[in-house]
Amino acid sequence: MKIIKSIAEMKAVVRQHRAASRTIGFVPTMGFLHEGHLSLVRAARKKADVTVVSIFVNPMQFGPKEDFKAYPRDLARDCALLEKEGADYVFHPEAVQMYPDGYKTYVEVHDLQDKLCGRSRPGHFRGVCTVVLKLFQIVEPDFAFFGQKDAQQTIILRKMVRDLNLNVQVEVMPIIREPDGLAMSSRNTYLNAEERAAALVLSRSLEGARSQVDQGERTPDVILGAIRAMVEREPLARIDYIEAVNTQDLNPVQEIGPGTLIALAVYIGKTRLIDNIIID
Ligand code: PAJ
Repeated sequence: MKIIKSIAEMKAVVRQHRAASRTIGFVPTMGFLHEGHLSLVRAARKKADVTVVSIFVNPMQFGPKEDFKAYPRDLARDCALLEKEGADYVFHPEAVQMYPDGYKTYVEVHDLQDKLCGRSRPGHFRGVCTVVLKLFQIVEPDFAFFGQKDAQQTIILRKMVRDLNLNVQVEVMPIIREPDGLAMSSRNTYLNAEERAAALVLSRSLEGARSQVDQGERTPDVILGAIRAMVEREPLARIDYIEAVNTQDLNPVQEIGPGTLIALAVYIGKTRLIDNIIID
């Protein structure tokens, strides 16, 4: 496995593989890897000849009051995990290389970027789209792998790929959870023991919603009300949003049915966590 820091070198490596007609699978990450990330690496290895994983804590997708500085980083540990998974390249550029002085170009997916997480994180998806398009330009992947954990991110990136006619196939992989149900996230490391226990309210309330739907309940107010009531019973939790939307335009649905995305964002103490389910 090779660690590449320079954009020029990454492009040169990609050029060689493409000249040899090898397909490239790409997994963009911000590092501090867990099983969720590694599941994407495994999917990439299965699908493509060459696997590239980027590790870049992208300053552009963090708001001024968000956790860019505190975001956990451990490159050595990440590289050891990726080596074991059989990744071929780790692309780890510096922020000054990605955004040199005077950087001026941004990618926005209008409307979708303002819904759900976009409401409390203005500019977040602009940062995500901008960096992912830049990474796509550098890595030129045939396939790019993203997690359902960040459902809105996958919907926005798919839209960007379609609207800009990019030659990459976006693959979305299931949410990987801890044994007790908590969706894996690099941000789970912020939680103390008490908060870690309280964080279970996200997955448990969604599971409750799923069984209500399984029993025939279809009314968003009833389902979302039950989730809300359960989260509100948890003293350490503060709701950002709980919504049932369709996966095309992220607008609220009138009736919950196949394909409905039930998504929530909840602060546990100071840590903002997200989770979701799609009704099938
Ligand atoms: P990051 O949070 O590091 O996540 C990298 C990828 O791993 C994303 O596609 C995310 O959805 C996926 N992922 C995270 N937790 C997961 C879980 N529990 N199960 C399955 N997949 C999971 O998302 C980002 O980074 C950034 O926004 C990025 C796309 C890299 C752009 O900077």
